Amino acid sequence: MSEKFTGSFTQQEPIPEVAIEAALAVLRSGRLHRYNVAEGEAGETALLEQEFAAQMGAKYCLAVASGGYALATSLRAVGVKPGDKVLTNAFTLAPVPGSIASVGAEPVFVEVTEDLTIDLEDLAAKADQAKVLMLSHMRGHLCDMDRLMEICDAAGITVIEDCAHTMGASWNGVLSGRHGAVGCYSCQTYKHVNSGEGGLLITDDEEIAARAIMMSGSYMLYGRHLAAPGPEVFERVKYETPNISGRMDNLRAAILRPQLRDLDTQVQRWNDRYRAVEEGLRGTPGLTVVARPAREVYVGSSIQFLLLDWSEEAVQEAVRRCSARGVELKWFGTPEPVAFTSRYDSWRYADTPRLPQSDRILAGIIDMRVPLTFSLEDCAQIARIIRAEVSAVYQSA
Ligand SMILES: Cc1ncc(COP(=O)(O)O)c(C=O)c1O
Repeated sequence: MSEKFTGSFTQQEPIPEVAIEAALAVLRSGRLHRYNVAEGEAGETALLEQEFAAQMGAKYCLAVASGGYALATSLRAVGVKPGDKVLTNAFTLAPVPGSIASVGAEPVFVEVTEDLTIDLEDLAAKADQAKVLMLSHMRGHLCDMDRLMEICDAAGITVIEDCAHTMGASWNGVLSGRHGAVGCYSCQTYKHVNSGEGGLLITDDEEIAARAIMMSGSYMLYGRHLAAPGPEVFERVKYETPNISGRMDNLRAAILRPQLRDLDTQVQRWNDRYRAVEEGLRGTPGLTVVARPAREVYVGSSIQFLLLDWSEEAVQEAVRRCSARGVELKWFGTPEPVAFTSRYDSWRYADTPRLPQSDRILAGIIDMRVPLTFSLEDCAQIARIIRAEVSAVYQSA
């Protein structure tokens, strides 16, 4: 009898007790709206922003309703207008090009490499096509950020970092989200902190911060923010910046603050699991483990491997066989988007030419969640199952 994995790939850990207590205190107060504070009270949302800014070493922070909202707000705040082009990754998820489309701009997709990062040569070749790059650190893979910033600085491109999968990660000692003009994070259940939905935006630029705060729906209450520029900056932007409501509330902020304090520990725990799966997969015939550069500190909340240049049928067979043994794999090569998996050619609102290099790589990407509810033994078992099924399909091909 072959072994079968019985765990759930979508089961997160419970919210920590201290966060539940903090949430109950907010519920008991009745003051859930971020600007509904008692005399002398800062409010959970303002405190969250202050703490996250300090944690990331950023001057300013804004908490918002979702990661996608943070992305769209950043685009507006750096001055993207309808009809503008915005560079972005061909390998990413739907909310990233969606944020570009939501401001009436047009995504220009940049190819992906076998390391699953943005192709810096293709980026350099396309650098004259846009003034903004929405850089998605998709599935936590960081490109050579020093080189990327050189290319973008030389071309006068403003970089917005989508750190939905890299909260807690760094490149060459610099935290993800601190290379570009703006860093955006998601606090949605499957990310590195869990408030159901939620987003965070950080920047050192006072005007970007003031515009983002006004846009998020601060009305004239921006003075209640603790990680915001001074009133003189708001004076410059407050009548010209539309209110596009998307605030964070005190309940979610209360749940997030204790989780952020635990981030480094959680990163270690994810990486222990990631490495257990990675070790188990190494040397599997036909399977390419994605290289992680020494300068990258990643957060292994998911793992990807490549079945490069396999036929569609063979990849589907491997995914099916793993699924029959309880191992849920996502394939980025499916012609139709499935669940959270999607490809650049399924975003048909954008007029995108074929990207042959990305087509080849996407056709080979297999993606798997690594929730913290998995034990190290679970991870070893999952790797054994994948190894056996991938090898069987590869050898029979
Ligand atoms: C790469 C990436 N960027 C942005 C987002 C948007 O985050 P949210 O779901 O908080 O809007 C997601 C969500 O899945 C994502 O995977």
